[in-house]
Amino acid sequence: MILPDPQTILAELATCTTEDQLKDFFSTYLGKKGSVNGLFKQLKDLSPEEKKTKGQEIKALFDSVNNAFMSQQDEIKRAYRDQKLSEEIVDISTPSNPLPLGHANLQNQLRRTVEQIFQGMWFHIEYGHDLVDTFENFSSVNIPPTHPATEMHDTLYVNGESKEWQKLMMRTHTSAHQNELIRKYGPACKIMIPGKVYRNENLDASHDVAFWQVEWVVIDKWLSIGHLKGMMEQILQGILETDQVELRLRPAYFPFVEPGFEIDAKAQVWGKDKRLEILGAGMIHPSVLEQAGVDPNEYSGFAFGLGMTRLVAIRYGLSDIRLLTNGDLRFAKSF
Ligand code: PHE
Repeated sequence: MILPDPQTILAELATCTTEDQLKDFFSTYLGKKGSVNGLFKQLKDLSPEEKKTKGQEIKALFDSVNNAFMSQQDEIKRAYRDQKLSEEIVDISTPSNPLPLGHANLQNQLRRTVEQIFQGMWFHIEYGHDLVDTFENFSSVNIPPTHPATEMHDTLYVNGESKEWQKLMMRTHTSAHQNELIRKYGPACKIMIPGKVYRNENLDASHDVAFWQVEWVVIDKWLSIGHLKGMMEQILQGILETDQVELRLRPAYFPFVEPGFEIDAKAQVWGKDKRLEILGAGMIHPSVLEQAGVDPNEYSGFAFGLGMTRLVAIRYGLSDIRLLTNGDLRFAKSF
């Protein structure tokens, strides 16, 4: 058996300058049916000694052709890439066609600002979910089945056949998550729950079927109404970007707090004194704490819920909250 001269093969390899030529070279010599690769098959007819020496020679030949092939292949690929790169230089100083950029809805902008303030104060931020059951929305926060809020004309229930489905509803307030989250984090805990809530309202400039609320729940030992008021002041100062916020607490009834308040804030907005009715608040009712597994003799807590959509309207001077959601670009672009 006479082996071919490696020099001739390598000389041929050197003439390959494209990937196609390389492919042909590979199948002629190195592939399954290639002549160099084929030499291995001829070994079977040789004596054992010859097999050994010839085998080594064939292997050396195969390796040298194969190595040369690999580096030639790298070389061609590199040359190809370099050429492409030089052809495709991108001139980054060319002016682009500016795409019109949108921005977050005003409600989301304010929500993010508020979230940042409270993340800085180590609050857990939780969004809950829009679809809840009647236990979460009502019973867990002390609202009896006879309460007017549970009626069809206020609440959007799921229309379904089964008993399970009939318990589902769109949350009417973010307080629906108090029970679950107090169980998850407390006691002592600080939680903020921004979320959309749904009520079957007659639509007008200040009422929509869906709007944003933010709820805060704080549980610890020795909490008092003083803490609640102080924190509320801070929140409103942060949101309205003024330190001139005056609060007035009016007694109000919410079944899940005792005592409960509605809070009016007087603040300078747009250079004018404004009175805002935007918050419901109170000390969490002992039975709500108990239902969430917290001992009311040891811990107390306060909660407040802020109508964020209304606050956005006040902050940006909107005459109608439906502007925020009706998709009118003229409105969106004016901010
Ligand atoms: N959940 C009440 C509402 O939607 C607001 C509220 C929250 C009141 C927390 C008291 C405490 O009207």
